[in-house]
Amino acid sequence: MTANDNLLKKVPVDILPEQKILGISGSPRINGNSDVLLKHILKGVQGEDVPTESVHLRDYYFQPCIGCERCRKDKICTGLNDGMNLLYPKIIQARGLILLSPTHNYNITAWMKAFIDRLYCLYEFDDNRPRGWTSRLAGQNRKAVIVAVCEQQDKKDMGFTIEAMRLPLQALGYEIFEELPVLKIFDRGAVKKEEEILMKASELGRRFAKSIAEA
Ligand SMILES: Cc1cc2nc3c(=O)[nH]c(=O)nc-3n(C[C@H](O)[C@H](O)[C@H](O)COP(=O)(O)O)c2cc1C
Repeated sequence: MTANDNLLKKVPVDILPEQKILGISGSPRINGNSDVLLKHILKGVQGEDVPTESVHLRDYYFQPCIGCERCRKDKICTGLNDGMNLLYPKIIQARGLILLSPTHNYNITAWMKAFIDRLYCLYEFDDNRPRGWTSRLAGQNRKAVIVAVCEQQDKKDMGFTIEAMRLPLQALGYEIFEELPVLKIFDRGAVKKEEEILMKASELGRRFAKSIAEA
């Protein structure tokens, strides 16, 4: 058995997703605003009895994509051997996905960007130039929620944060269930004082869980 066979055993690329919601935060701050928002969204999900799991990308050691293109043949990332091996099965198994990122310089954090780039191995490419492509996650009724939090009050200061998650998720085959931009929040955990936002987050989780359970 080769190293690739071992990896493919660990990462079941051909299974259909389950009724489960995975929340992934790209904030480097422990107990920061993204953490608080994720907790409240998942509280709403749990009220509907849909299994959940949360992931903080800062807890995983993984590198950005190195563009080796080995995944085109191997169908999973074999060019790097790191913490993403633990995350691929979680993503493939959960039909619902929540991505959260604070705005860092008008964009998603470096953690979230590296994570999204590492999902490149879930595409199939043909041999034309430019290459035609499809996603191996498409056509499986997958849905996603996108959350972004930033300090400034004008949405333009959030820059590309929402789009930088929306476009790759849509390309991967996710229907965007809802987007939640949270403005004017700076200090670590400051969103805890914003009852209206927290209620909105739990309510979003509840509706998202219903939609995942019904499909
Ligand atoms: C490196 C860095 C860059 C930031 N860039 C922006 C920005 O472009 N626009 C903005 O409104 N807030 C910006 N912020 C503020 C954060 O988005 C804000 O503090 C947010 O609430 C942090 O969320 P967290 O606690 O989940 O990490 C930046 C913060 C850091 C550390």
